[in-house]
Amino acid sequence: MRCAPSRYYLRTYGCQMNENDSERIAGMLESVGFSPTDSPEDADIILLNTCCVRRNAEDKVYGLIGQLKRLKDQNPDLILAVCGCMVQQEAELEVIQKDYPYVDLVFGTHNLHRLPELLDQVQSGRRRVIEVWDSEGEIVEGLPTKRQTGFQAWITVMYGCNNFCSYCIVPYVRGRERSRSRDSILEEVRSLVADGFCEFTLLGQNVNSYGRDLPDKYDFASLMRDVSRIPGVKRVRFTTSHPKDMSERLIDVIAEEDTICEHIHLPLQAGSNRILARMNRGYTRDDYLRLTDLIRAKIPEAAITTDLIVGFPGETRPDFEDTLDMVRRVRFDSAFTFAFSPRKGTPAAGMDEQVEHQERMDRLYELIETQNAISKERNLEMVGRVYELLVEGPSSKDSARYQGRTRTNKIVSFDPQGDLENGSSVWVRITRAKTWTLEGERVPDD
Ligand code: SAM
Ligand code: SF4
Ligand code: F3S
Repeated sequence: MRCAPSRYYLRTYGCQMNENDSERIAGMLESVGFSPTDSPEDADIILLNTCCVRRNAEDKVYGLIGQLKRLKDQNPDLILAVCGCMVQQEAELEVIQKDYPYVDLVFGTHNLHRLPELLDQVQSGRRRVIEVWDSEGEIVEGLPTKRQTGFQAWITVMYGCNNFCSYCIVPYVRGRERSRSRDSILEEVRSLVADGFCEFTLLGQNVNSYGRDLPDKYDFASLMRDVSRIPGVKRVRFTTSHPKDMSERLIDVIAEEDTICEHIHLPLQAGSNRILARMNRGYTRDDYLRLTDLIRAKIPEAAITTDLIVGFPGETRPDFEDTLDMVRRVRFDSAFTFAFSPRKGTPAAGMDEQVEHQERMDRLYELIETQNAISKERNLEMVGRVYELLVEGPSSKDSARYQGRTRTNKIVSFDPQGDLENGSSVWVRITRAKTWTLEGERVPDD
């Protein structure tokens, strides 16, 4: 029997969908009487919600599991749980089973909702419980969810991915695409609005395929329009769009609806047609340029951000230069940049012509430098102009200042001139811009 109050420490790796899963894990734990702690030393249960998209994500998890052995030795009653994408891979599950016998509980991405029951099994028998489903079941709705803030909410609208980009592990660990019903999504947003939330980010690995598995041809553009029109919704964001499926109708909806933010995250991955084909991305550089031209024509204020991989197998220097060329042509506001990381079981891991580690790193630094210069230029273009921010609280760099986010997803710090509630709107004129940061001063509301 557990003595109340018990505390949980939860560490999350990976994407926003994993963060959203962690909010459900936290919600379930709190609904059975746990309270959160920021310190693993104070916890009765430690959970690691893992990611395996690149090797270094996994290395971090193994590093932490290793360190936590000391706490287990000091307190044998401590429960150590590992869940999420990493344990959906057979090989890693085996490593945890064999090499980390002090891990008490392992569960996967498809049976997260079973946490209270699995925890009960661990506690009642003080035994090890490992339950990882290898295929997805029905979407489980209505799980308790502990949101990270009181005004911004992530709404996962679809699970899984059918795209099988040749480098990517996600379809193997997250299963096939499954869309939530329109009613459950709209109901969730309405009830969050009633609780004071005003900014919503709709999440999926490829939101543009939302609805393909639903009976009534209800698609992502329609969903965005319906969410954006719910009274009380101030801002709607979404991620991630796949360039091969982004429809003109969606661009029109973003342009037309006042509450939909002008920020489009559109992963390009590579600038060479040969590499894009080997990646199985389903578009060419010209397709991508046509799409970004259309976005800029219909939504002139739009910020476009991207994901890029360098050192994909077979990528030559000219291929890499095609990526740099695309970066210069599109002038992204910012980019997440990655060195290719071979993932066991994906086609790219077995391809010939793997690029040497050092070459991958050199290309990565060159790409980052190129993009950083453009990000800075883009930010400098904002100086002197006035933007609406949604207040996010004290600045992470200087607690005397506050920070807020523009509709285009840029963080701006400013002097609050008094108390401000998180989620309220203020207007600022941008006074200073660097590669990563913007500063502004308040101006009277319009
Ligand atoms: N579904 C999104 C899409 O298709 O754009 C992205 C999902 S993934 C979680 C986020 C990013 O990780 C990808 O866009 C890609 O740039 C990067 N990524 C995925 N697999 C990778 C790998 N094996 N090596 C390096 N980067 C990878
Ligand atoms: Fe991975 Fe491609 Fe699916 Fe994105 S679309 S999750 S990169 S397989
Ligand atoms: Fe990682 Fe899983 Fe997301 S592999 S990026 S946490 S879907």
